[in-house]
Amino acid sequence: MLRIVVLVSGGGTNLQAIIDSVAAGGITNTEIVGVISNNKTVKSLERAKNAGIPAVSVSPKDFENRDIFNDALLDAVNEFAPDLVVLAGFLVAIPPKMVAQYGNRIINIHPSLIPSFCGVGYYGLKVHERVLERGAKVTGATVHFVNEGMDEGPIISQKAVYVEEGDTPEILQRRVMEQAEWILLPKAIDDIANDRITVIDNKVVKNN
Ligand code: GAR
Repeated sequence: MLRIVVLVSGGGTNLQAIIDSVAAGGITNTEIVGVISNNKTVKSLERAKNAGIPAVSVSPKDFENRDIFNDALLDAVNEFAPDLVVLAGFLVAIPPKMVAQYGNRIINIHPSLIPSFCGVGYYGLKVHERVLERGAKVTGATVHFVNEGMDEGPIISQKAVYVEEGDTPEILQRRVMEQAEWILLPKAIDDIANDRITVIDNKVVKNN
C-alpha cells in the first residue's frame, strides 16, 4: 500500500478527485493517510473529514518566520510517514529540506503545459489569466515530480485542453480541471502505486 499525504490550499477539487478515485478503484494499492492545508478555513479540510481522512492545518500565520513554518510543515508531513506527498493545489513553496528528504516522492499538479505558463507567480487562476492575455489557443495541465526548482521537476504526464472563444479565466480553469487535472493526477498516483514509472536522467520513463 502506498501511503499518500495530500497538501492543499483551497477548494480541493483535485483532492476530491483523488478521494473519489480511491473509492471507485481507479487508484489502487493506495491509502490517503492524511491531508494538510496551509489554510485553516478551506473546503479541502471538510472534504477530508467527510471522507474520514485525518486533516490538519499548518498556517504560516501561526509561526514567527518562514523557516519555523517550513520545519512545522515538514514535521506535519513526517507525522503521517508517507511514501508519496501529493501537492493538489498547494500554493506554498515547498521547503528545500522537504525536497531533499522526499526526492522523487513529491508530485505536483500544475494547470498549464509546462514549460509554458509556469514558475514564480504562476499559480491557480493567475495561470489562466495569463494564458488568455497571451491569446494562447491551447493550454492544459501537467503532473510532475518536485525538485528544487519551481515547476521544473521530471514530467509525469500532460494533457492539452483547447482555449475557446469567450473564455473567462474561471471558465478556462474549470475546463482544464475537468478535461485534464482530475484525470491526470489520480492516474499518476495509480502509476506510482503500481510501480509503472521510474525517473531516469531527470525524465520519467515507463517500466517494462
Ligand atoms: C488547480 O487548478 C491546480 O492545478 C492549481 O491550483 C488549483 C487548485 O484547485 N495549482 C497550481 O497552480 C500550482 N502551481 P483545487 O484546490 O480545486 O484542487
